[in-house]
Amino acid sequence: MKTINKIFVLLVLVLASVSYASAKPKVMILATGGTIAGSAATATQAGYTAGVATVDQLISAVPQIKDLADIKGMQISNIGSQEMNDQVWLKLAKEINRLFASNECDAIVITHGTDTMEETSFFLNLVVKSDKPVVLVGAMRPSTALSADGPMNLYKAVVTATTPEAKGKGVMVLMNDYILGAADVTKMNSTNVDAFACPNYGPLGQVIGDKAYFTRAPLTRHTTNSEFSVDGLTKFPTVDIVIGYANASALPTKALVDAKVDGIVHAGVGNGNIYPTVMTELDRAVKNGIQVIRASRIPVGMVPMNGEVSDTDHGFTASGFHNAPKSRVLLMMALTKTKDLNEIRRIFAEY
Ligand code: SIN
Repeated sequence: MKTINKIFVLLVLVLASVSYASAKPKVMILATGGTIAGSAATATQAGYTAGVATVDQLISAVPQIKDLADIKGMQISNIGSQEMNDQVWLKLAKEINRLFASNECDAIVITHGTDTMEETSFFLNLVVKSDKPVVLVGAMRPSTALSADGPMNLYKAVVTATTPEAKGKGVMVLMNDYILGAADVTKMNSTNVDAFACPNYGPLGQVIGDKAYFTRAPLTRHTTNSEFSVDGLTKFPTVDIVIGYANASALPTKALVDAKVDGIVHAGVGNGNIYPTVMTELDRAVKNGIQVIRASRIPVGMVPMNGEVSDTDHGFTASGFHNAPKSRVLLMMALTKTKDLNEIRRIFAEY
């Protein structure tokens, strides 16, 4: 080969490798609504409407994310997450699994209201069939507020999703610099921007500036190691929550037993303790084939099997480290597979 041809071939190879090396990861932003897409009449007022801005508006408000990744957006819903429901969950989970299976993106960021983000993230943690990063992000202040937190949170969610260490960590939430694992993340403050924490396990890491630092990994089962699936699912078993308090009324529990729900989560006082008349109704639930999870209304700490209450005698399952909303999600998914008490107890020990 003539020298000139050799130089030409070499140049083509160098250019190809440079463009390969600089190929940006593909990130899909799935928008569901929430305060991050919220709008208010003034920049300082407390009241606003969630779920107004579209996914395209969210993306164009943070042009810096295009330096990190090839960004595409898709509108899944545009609701406040207090309206989150089974149909949006199924649509979201099935779309995520389709996008990853068809290799259309390397990571997914989901914009979501903060009110039920802990439940959506845990649900997805159980049913996403990929180890590619999925990061939920929201905001405590609407997009029109002074010092809105949404744009920086979105930027840091994309930083997290495009960091190689994010792979295999399960579904995550990015709020106020913290990278929070789906199994433990919970909303701890109803108004402050520092609203989210993993009260039992601590965060998986933090995003400082434009770099994500991971310091932990979840050991409980999730995503590719989960036995749960949304394939063929069109609805979920009915699982409801009742809360414990002093002099508690047994009426809500009685109504659920009479309605023949599939499962009841009792968010008890302290270590999952239960008022006597409510206990009578929960015993009736078990006799009627309804699964009962004994959780706590306290956001931090564990409800182990057979504490002050003998779960063995009553036929209950203790929630472990899961709070009541997460227990509801896990029982719902467990009941898509089994009604066997020992299996339900195994599931609560493993996830
Ligand atoms: C919502 O959850 O949609 C409303 C509250 C929020 O996003 O912070």
